[in-house]
Amino acid sequence: MSLKERDVSETSEAEIAVHWGEEEYYYPSAKFIAQANMTDPKVFERFSLENFPNCFKEYADLLSWYEYWHTTLDTSDAPCWKWFVGGRINASYNCIDRHLAKNKNKTAIHFVPEPEEERTDHITYQELYVRVNEFAAILKDFCGLKAGDTVTLHMPMVAELPITMLACARLGIIHSQVFGGFSGKACSDRIVDSSSNVLITMDAYYRNGQLIDHKEKADIAVAEAAKEKHKVDKVLVWQRYPGTYSSQTPMVQGRDFFVNDLLKDYYGARVDPVEMPAEAPLFLMYTSGTTGKPKGAQHSTGGYLAYVAGTSKYIQDIHPEDVYWCMADIGWITGHSYIVYGPLSLCASSVIYEGVPTYPDAGRPWRIAQNLDVNIFHTAPTAIRALRKAGPDEPLKYNFHFKHMTTVGEPIEPEVWKWYYQSIGKGEAAIVDTWWQTENGGFLCSTIPAINPMKPGSAGPGVPGIHPIVYDDDGNVVPPGSGKAGNICIQNPWPGSFQTIWHDRDRYVSQYYETYCKDPKSKRWQDWPYKTGDAAVVAEDGYVRILGRIDDVINVSGHRLGTKEIESAALIVAEVAEAAVVPVKHEVKGKEPDLYVVLMPGHTPSDDLAKKVQDAIVTEIGAIARPRMVWIVADMPKTRSGKIMRRVLSAISNGTEVGDVMTLANPEIVSEITKMVKEKLGSAKRS
Ligand code: WTA
Repeated sequence: MSLKERDVSETSEAEIAVHWGEEEYYYPSAKFIAQANMTDPKVFERFSLENFPNCFKEYADLLSWYEYWHTTLDTSDAPCWKWFVGGRINASYNCIDRHLAKNKNKTAIHFVPEPEEERTDHITYQELYVRVNEFAAILKDFCGLKAGDTVTLHMPMVAELPITMLACARLGIIHSQVFGGFSGKACSDRIVDSSSNVLITMDAYYRNGQLIDHKEKADIAVAEAAKEKHKVDKVLVWQRYPGTYSSQTPMVQGRDFFVNDLLKDYYGARVDPVEMPAEAPLFLMYTSGTTGKPKGAQHSTGGYLAYVAGTSKYIQDIHPEDVYWCMADIGWITGHSYIVYGPLSLCASSVIYEGVPTYPDAGRPWRIAQNLDVNIFHTAPTAIRALRKAGPDEPLKYNFHFKHMTTVGEPIEPEVWKWYYQSIGKGEAAIVDTWWQTENGGFLCSTIPAINPMKPGSAGPGVPGIHPIVYDDDGNVVPPGSGKAGNICIQNPWPGSFQTIWHDRDRYVSQYYETYCKDPKSKRWQDWPYKTGDAAVVAEDGYVRILGRIDDVINVSGHRLGTKEIESAALIVAEVAEAAVVPVKHEVKGKEPDLYVVLMPGHTPSDDLAKKVQDAIVTEIGAIARPRMVWIVADMPKTRSGKIMRRVLSAISNGTEVGDVMTLANPEIVSEITKMVKEKLGSAKRS
């Protein structure tokens, strides 16, 4: 189906995206510029297309290599790019061992538990070294894992998560961390797809004041995987309180093991880092796409690490003496790149906070920032909106000072940006609005904080070495300053980009490269622009404003959910015949899903049934996908060819004009649904 056809039949987020005008520039302070890592405007020349791909040597040289590479970029298997070919490297060594000589006493990780009465754990680089080695010994000797094997992690936000990741990386084991908030079923899908025989989890963690049983999800995950004829041999269980079991579910004899018990046999163990080829996979990160099945974005070792080290240094402005806090979850790509691998490769101190930002009150992040003297802060618009709503004056009550702040994950409204700047940044911090995706490994567009001024609501130009281009649906270039939106693509590969979709090269090619490929047989990178799937407008100054997704992805609180994933979860309920999900604007989350369902003949709508559908979605995917409402309707608005008009449903859900629907097969259903939605939402408002 061409993009054009889809536009008339289905909704896209871009269509209902907020359209704000271009804002005035804000300039970084002289104080910030004086200390910044990158102040040389010539960097853009050095990273121009003429100097591609060798410009990226500058990033690779931030790392320690066992063996230097001989080929910067190998395009022979286009569009599967290979970076730094011939190089040998270990990610764990680069994030830990190489810092020991000078900085073993420096804090690598500040772990802040959610309960405020529990003390913060300050893990030095030496301690990280010891704990990663001991755990790597368990993986190697007790689990029998080796380089190239895959392991699934389903862990909350605790220091043991980066410890586990770095232990895998030490051995060349490919880790696949599943967001802790995902359901056991969602975890199982990822276990099966990645063929992991070992699952690593934790018994419990704190969220919103409650110690949540997490091990129970592991039991579900293993049972669900068994239904797919996939056996999980071992489940390693970290304990939130070592020595105490905080879950209700029994440990399964011979399958489940407490890490804390196993460690007793491995005290003092040391495991040499394995010298991995630069292009060996480091990890998988599953993400939602246009079809139901989540896809495993496969990230490389050398290229990925070089890219996150480079962007952490120049865009995040991380110096070894900084205390850096990224409030994302490590279960998402932001956490992998900008809590773990980027900051640790630069020998910074990285903060990991277990819980929710507004627990026990909206002052919590600012107390953490004050106590740890955090000077770089990184979060998403959804968190900024929540903190602004719950305590607009809170930040000014605390004595903390950020030199630099980041926003990531979804478009930020200029009003919210200005509050972030004035109240959290106290007018002192430089802000970067970083646009990128799971597939990209690191930033695509952002200002360089000491070089480019900030513009609220705009991400900024391509970062060094990233050359965006906007195409219309027919493949014509939409020039900057034309005021028109189009499909934003990147003209060139870069080292952080994923290598493929795990075991699905065809999907990788068709989804990201086919649409704008100039010659499918070509081995030249120039013929393979990368399609991001976002709609964007580029201003005359080259600043990119992202409008949202053009495909069937809903961005909830900065996290990608596939519409097909949600719809197929609804269809698991036997009474449901058809399901359609659309994004609704939400004050804090940005968007949330609204679900329409049609029942099988012979069933009558009821609140119980609606609840059953909601529960099915939470069980299949996780609470993050819970729809605002489940609307049980008599029929879906459809085109004459039978396609569901999600655009119409989206307009109804958002209370906007549905437009001309007379060409539909069943126009009368539109007013019927509109009436029902209006009445229900109206009465909800009144009560
Ligand atoms: C959206 C998160 C506007 C975009 C790192 C992208 C953004 C999707 C921004 C990827 C931003 C991310 N401004 N929109 N600064 N950052 N997005 O894979 O639609 O979870 O395609 O990666 O989030 O989400 P993902």
